Amino acid sequence: MIHTVNLTKRFEDLTAVDHLNLDIEEGEIFGLLGPNGAGKTTTVLMLSTVIKPTEGTAVVGGYDIKQNPDDVRKLIGLCFQEPKILWVSTPWDVLNWHAKVCGLSAVERKKRVHQILEDVNMWESRNKKVHGLSGGMRKRIEVAKVLIQRPKVAFIDEPTAQIDVVGKHKIWNMIRALRDEGSTIILATNELYEADILSDRVGIMHKGKLLICDIPKTLKDSIPGGDIVEIQLGKEVTRNKLEELRNVHEVADVVMVKPKDLRVYLNKVEEVVPKIMELFLKDGLPITSIHMSEPSLDDVFVHYTGLTIQEAEQKSR
Ligand SMILES: Nc1ncnc2c1ncn2[C@@H]1O[C@H](COP(=O)(O)OP(=O)(O)OP(=O)(O)O)[C@@H](O)[C@H]1O
Ligand SMILES: [Mg+2]
Repeated sequence: MIHTVNLTKRFEDLTAVDHLNLDIEEGEIFGLLGPNGAGKTTTVLMLSTVIKPTEGTAVVGGYDIKQNPDDVRKLIGLCFQEPKILWVSTPWDVLNWHAKVCGLSAVERKKRVHQILEDVNMWESRNKKVHGLSGGMRKRIEVAKVLIQRPKVAFIDEPTAQIDVVGKHKIWNMIRALRDEGSTIILATNELYEADILSDRVGIMHKGKLLICDIPKTLKDSIPGGDIVEIQLGKEVTRNKLEELRNVHEVADVVMVKPKDLRVYLNKVEEVVPKIMELFLKDGLPITSIHMSEPSLDDVFVHYTGLTIQEAEQKSR
């Protein structure tokens, strides 16, 4: 659905997006991740024909963003990171006008605007002036614009920034429903958890470049020693037993947090845990608790960038 060819944007001497080559499949939610300043919004704005690339191009739904921007615009919907809503209007007017521009009939508009306002919990506030709404409420209206439009390709930039936890879950469900109805969704987000639970595939950007792109599970599995098993023992572990554990093929590292508490970094957690249990139990070392966890997308980011998200933010230009 989207194919970029060396897509690049420079702002004076700053290269915000640097020769980006990316393919996004029809009907998927593609999560575009990366720390502040990585180039996510600039990419979204180029693909949605709001700003022009400095170099390279992209094809969206079969149309080149440089040659046929009007055709691209007919296919897309865009939820801006910073809500772009008329300050003099009310949520009802903003959505009704947006639905009208998108070609919905008066009858359909009335029904859909009502429904969407209910869905994003804004029905009670439908007649308030936009300037009197909170930041999270304005963001709900910005997201609602895309949801009401149901475009073939939806660009959604930071959909739940400033939105409370109940609102986040509602919006996540609505984004999934939009995908299930057939839209292709590009989701730019700083929230790795959001990207993880929503995206069919994710791409991690850093300093304008695409570092890695795959399905979240594959990315997590690609981290050597990425699975973690925390074990609490009934007795202190011996030096020999630690050595034996370290020698298990799939074990990458063992950290003794306390004499009875171990943290084991490994791969293929589901296959290895029975081996580890056997190792302790055969010598009568009781295990009082065992907790397994898989790496998160945060761990994937740290692995591929060599930086934590916070460090990357500090270092980004
Ligand atoms: N209009 C502009 N003029 C000059 N520089 C810009 C402009 N827009 C973006 N930039 C710069 O381009 C870089 C990428 O910005 P962009 O907004 O694409 O990042 P982002 O990944 O969306 O970050 P965030 O997570 O903060 O939303 C930043 O260094 C930013 O300062
Ligand atoms: Mg952004």
